[in-house]
Amino acid sequence: MMPGMEKRNDHLFFDGCDTVELARIYGTPLYVMSETLIRERLREVRTSFLERHRNTFAVYASKAFQTLEMCRIVESEGLGLDVVSGGELYAAKRAGFPMDKVFFHGNSKTVDELVMAVELGVGRVVVDNLDELKTLDGLARARGRRVPILFRLTPGVDSHTHEYVSTGQLDSKFGIPLDPTVRDEYIGAALAMKGVKLEGFHFHIGSQLLVRDSHLKAIEIVLGFMCGVKKDYGFEATDLNLGGGFGVRYTRQDEPESLAGFTDAMVAAVEGGCARFGLARPRIIIEPGRWIVGEAGITLYTINSVKEIPGIKNYIGVDGGMPDNPRPALYGARYEAVLANSIDAERTELYTVAGKCCETGDILIRDISLPISEAGDILAVFTTGAYNHSMASNYNRLPRPAVVMTAAGRHRLSVRRETFEDLVARELG
Ligand code: LLP
Repeated sequence: MMPGMEKRNDHLFFDGCDTVELARIYGTPLYVMSETLIRERLREVRTSFLERHRNTFAVYASKAFQTLEMCRIVESEGLGLDVVSGGELYAAKRAGFPMDKVFFHGNSKTVDELVMAVELGVGRVVVDNLDELKTLDGLARARGRRVPILFRLTPGVDSHTHEYVSTGQLDSKFGIPLDPTVRDEYIGAALAMKGVKLEGFHFHIGSQLLVRDSHLKAIEIVLGFMCGVKKDYGFEATDLNLGGGFGVRYTRQDEPESLAGFTDAMVAAVEGGCARFGLARPRIIIEPGRWIVGEAGITLYTINSVKEIPGIKNYIGVDGGMPDNPRPALYGARYEAVLANSIDAERTELYTVAGKCCETGDILIRDISLPISEAGDILAVFTTGAYNHSMASNYNRLPRPAVVMTAAGRHRLSVRRETFEDLVARELG
């Protein structure tokens, strides 16, 4: 069983709540997020990283799952927030998140987004390209500000994850290549600017990484780069942001390294490298998203149909699909599931779980063994806390699911379900 799960009275309980009851009360499809598990992870960031290593900081990558409530939970546990758009920044502000703890990312920020970042006074803008650097400098000077920035670097490390979530390789659309001529353009320009203050560097090499090798390789490469910058420009970074990417368990086959397994080795690599390269040890920052919320969420669906193609396949049709979880269609992501209302029954059947969209690729899980299932049963899919709610769409005009937050047997509606009226609300004709 995954974290927070128990079997009681033949039902699946999650964070002390009967999931069949949750489905009945709030309807399906339903995202269930455990505040207990989210806080456990945030506290583990504190105990295994922030309190274990001096001069460190952690920001939660809110693209994984962002609601106003989530921003407040993150704040109450003392972490900062990574935002990647005007929308995420707006929500952080609305939630009352302290702006000086916000890191603003993105490879193609708009002028309006940069204005927002300057006027709200975000803690760091992570600059991706020369156009952004120049625009930001101008906007800041016009407002009498000096914005602290990091440069996002592309360390050229291949991170052995799905190509669509790998971001650190040489031809990546993200970040600044470590090529010497490019380097001189950026560093030279930034150090001469009055509207920005270069504080250091950032990289993020990929997501759902189960081992730490790629992070360690990237650290070595980036420290080498920083050593050259120190030699040629006399500039020493005070911040080094090592990104996120720490993997979680989707299926029994996934065995991710623990957080400390990653971060102890990463801190040792930074400290060892700094000593070797003659660099002052910078503040070390991490940016986990999926690791905080992935296993803290499950999705409940009602089974609408069970269809047999004799000798070929048995399909279960559920009341959601790619609009609430695009990851199987986008990345071939694999998930595990159980029949929440019949958790003790023997898993004798092999089913393929199909979503309800008019799209052949809308398959949530291929070939999963489950007990004999029938219409009306509740299917619980595990590890849907990251990149599900935040990536949801309205394809086929499906209203986006509600989010229920649980905490040790208690539950409350955190985001209401979209209505059909919501779906047409923006239409003027
Ligand atoms: N920092 C930066 C700059 C990032 O681009 C990302 C994720 C993170 C931190 C957090 O990464 P995490 O710890 O969550 O792995 N939609 C994809 C994942 C895309 C990740 C994009 N960047 C998925 O569903 O697998």
